Amino acid sequence: MFSRVARRAFSTTKVNPYKVTVLGAGGGIGQPLSLLLKLNHKVTDLRLYDLKGAAGVAADLSHIPTNSVVKGFTPDQDKGLHKALENTDVVLIPAGVPRKPGMTRDDLFAINAGIVRDLAAAAAEAAPNAAILVISNPVNSTVPIVAEVLKSKGVYDPHKLFGVTTLDTIRASRFISEVANTDPTQEKVNVVGGHSGITIIPLISQTKHKNLPKDKKDALIHRIQFGGDEVVQAKNGAGSATLSMAQAGAKFANAVLAGLAGEREVIENSYVDSPLYKSDGIEFFASPVTLGVNGVEKIHSIGDISSEEEELLAKCKETLKKNIEKGVAFAKK
Ligand code: NAD
Ligand code: LMR
Repeated sequence: MFSRVARRAFSTTKVNPYKVTVLGAGGGIGQPLSLLLKLNHKVTDLRLYDLKGAAGVAADLSHIPTNSVVKGFTPDQDKGLHKALENTDVVLIPAGVPRKPGMTRDDLFAINAGIVRDLAAAAAEAAPNAAILVISNPVNSTVPIVAEVLKSKGVYDPHKLFGVTTLDTIRASRFISEVANTDPTQEKVNVVGGHSGITIIPLISQTKHKNLPKDKKDALIHRIQFGGDEVVQAKNGAGSATLSMAQAGAKFANAVLAGLAGEREVIENSYVDSPLYKSDGIEFFASPVTLGVNGVEKIHSIGDISSEEEELLAKCKETLKKNIEKGVAFAKK
């Protein structure tokens, strides 16, 4: 029996009843990401969709005694994808193929562009107000694809579309702590640009480690830019980062939900429809973003940067522009 005090405390616990859908929930990222979302008390309705495996993952997670109901949806079910998406608040998309050693993220475009386009079309119809969080690579191009699909359906809200780049920021925290011998939980690096190789720019000059020796700093920047390759090589053909990505995706989803719930000062870096470099023809760019009740509340500038970082930014912008144009051209075809 609850005591009177305990009962009162329990009844005033604030629960935000959010519906969250994971598309690709049976995969390497989808499964641990769904587990972390099952543990998130802001989520009360968790819907899992995949071409295969979503029903099993949902049944498994449904035994965990948190306050969400979990349901699995499959394509062979009548309107399975539509039901998974209907009136949901947040859609996470980790559906698609991962890299193998020797591949770039751009090599995934041929398969993943079509997958993301079709899922975005379904989301536009069933959940036109949802926040959409794109994980599927190449993020630099898949986010513009989703934007074009939503525009073509007349439901594009630039405040509600996000490329998930959180893995770059969590890697940067970890890697800088290894170089500086510090507590990784206390390290924060502003990582801007995009999500592949040289488009990933960690702004070390804005950290307390800006005076690292040049060789160590260059190696650190390279490791953050190409951290994904370390995992792809170590997995040796069995895929790319899944567990660290699940943690990153859950962290970012929690920030989006906190913003929707009206919490203040929720800031995460994300690849969004951004005014920062539109004059250079770059429609999407990752920088710190304040999240609010309508999604993106404010896009922050990247801040002061060093001359070396100016050079990185110039190279990033060249590649990013091409990646974005490729996505837009595909979606308009
Ligand atoms: P995976 O192959 O383990 O899982 C992908 C899942 O997507 C599979 O279960 C598959 O059945 C499902 N799927 C494919 N087409 C689908 C469709 N049309 N509808 C629903 N589900 C579909 O791959 P993974 O390791 O989970 O990686 C998924 C994607 O995430 C890859 O593109 C990878 O490159 C990307 N990724 C991005 C980041 C990032 O930082 N943004 C990090 C890691 C991986
Ligand atoms: C990552 O950064 O780990 C992901 O984008 C997956 C990959 O292909 O490296």
